[in-house]
Amino acid sequence: MLGSKQFMGDVSAVHCHSLSPPFLSRFSKRRTVLRTRADSTTCIHATARPRNAVPRIRASLKHGDGFNAAPAFVSVAIHGSRRVPLSSTTRAGIGSIDKVVNAKEPIPLMLVSDLDFTMVDHQDNENVDQIRFNSLWAADYAHNSLLVFSTGRSPEKYQQLRREKPLLTPDVGIFSVGTEILYGPSLDPDVGWENHLNDGWNRDLVVRECQNFLSLKPQEESEQRLHKVSFYIEKDLAGDTVRDLTKRLEDLGLKVKLIYSGGYALDILPHRAGKGEALAYLLEQLKETKMTPKGTLVCGDSGNDAELYTVEGVRGVIVGNAMEELLRWYDGLQFKTNIFMAVQRCAGGIIEAIEHFGFGPYEIPADRVLEISHKTHTMENSVPTKGSATREVVEVNTALVLWVNGDCPNTDAAHNRILSVMAEDATMVYPWGEERILRKSVITYKDKYGLKKNAKVQVWMDGMKVQKLADDIFLVTWQNWQQLTNGENRKGYFATAILRTKLGNPNGLEWVRVHETPRG
Ligand code: GLC
Ligand code: MG
Repeated sequence: MLGSKQFMGDVSAVHCHSLSPPFLSRFSKRRTVLRTRADSTTCIHATARPRNAVPRIRASLKHGDGFNAAPAFVSVAIHGSRRVPLSSTTRAGIGSIDKVVNAKEPIPLMLVSDLDFTMVDHQDNENVDQIRFNSLWAADYAHNSLLVFSTGRSPEKYQQLRREKPLLTPDVGIFSVGTEILYGPSLDPDVGWENHLNDGWNRDLVVRECQNFLSLKPQEESEQRLHKVSFYIEKDLAGDTVRDLTKRLEDLGLKVKLIYSGGYALDILPHRAGKGEALAYLLEQLKETKMTPKGTLVCGDSGNDAELYTVEGVRGVIVGNAMEELLRWYDGLQFKTNIFMAVQRCAGGIIEAIEHFGFGPYEIPADRVLEISHKTHTMENSVPTKGSATREVVEVNTALVLWVNGDCPNTDAAHNRILSVMAEDATMVYPWGEERILRKSVITYKDKYGLKKNAKVQVWMDGMKVQKLADDIFLVTWQNWQQLTNGENRKGYFATAILRTKLGNPNGLEWVRVHETPRG
């Protein structure tokens, strides 16, 4: 039985998720009391802000009215729940944030998203909203913003997901519930972060103790990590086990965090780990390099995402399909103005949140192209920027796909969106090594309207980069991926395009040269 449990730490917030209402939580600087019904399943997180932002306070968990039995489970960072910032010397590892930021330009947005059932909708075989998100990101954000994936998956299981779903390559990957931070496409590990997690951690001891709990079924080998020990557990056994195991590990002097997620998984982590801690660390590094993003949006759907919303200064979205445990946690929050409850599922909800918080453009390239294809043209007379160049690349690629799929009107206006932006002498080198005049190719393409109607294709553009080579010339590079909407026949190309200013064109640009090379 839990009884009245007290813990000390620099606690700034205590959150409660209860799987069966009603529950009541109160939070004050001096004392926090959480009450729950006897039959409820409750998960309590104690969270602290970085750098001792709040005075040391005392939090207590007490039985409330009519509360006789123990709550089914309690997850608390038992010791020193304060976020401990790392000094720059301790973070000198192989990988660091310097790998992914261009120190010269400000970062408008850092988008931090969970993967399963947040960025990725496992119920949508055609990945419609994920593809829409990918095109928005490539058009308007990839060139100067940061994409971070924060997942419970190990890097191995993440690679598996990349093969199944159209995932962009993030600038930073936070894996294994905030225990591994990897940078860039080569996934360079942050060794400093891993060392930081050793405090109060003894993996062997955790594994040994867990063997005494028959309710715990070890997860697959790939998910057992240096700083993460993971099990499957039946929902109705979770409460007692978490309570007893927490006590046991605490008695052994370990400082651990137990996180129960998705109604099936139990992760045991060092107390300094977790999605929230890892994000706070990332923001701290960006601050040190004077590259704090103008805005940070965190996106999640389940229990282990709750910490993300507690990081100072972030805005968050709970996607429309969120799990009960996260919704209950949200209900119990006293301050929720930084969190947006999306109506739409997964990536659809993320797009909604970008609009809601006003982080920047939120119109999807396909929608913009369709708008143009009804009219003759949308004139653009402002001087093109790097963002105009990436947007133009995405819009034209999108227009090509809409055309072959027969998803836009079969009109001259729609076809002109592609043809009119090709410079007279523009050429393209095709993946099979042939060079052609672009205008000629686009004219031939006119006959291909609806060619893929019965087996539609989808594309996404990854790793979009842009350089301004001269006042009126932009070099854009990216990886072009295409596949059938059912995920089959995936092909990738390295692509390079040179664009030149031409006022009056949709993005104030015309195409001069394109080069595509198959990706191995
Ligand atoms: C992912 C991981 C698993 C973890 C779960 C919840 O599914 O693969 O190890 O327990 O997320 O965090
Ligand atoms: Mg999830």
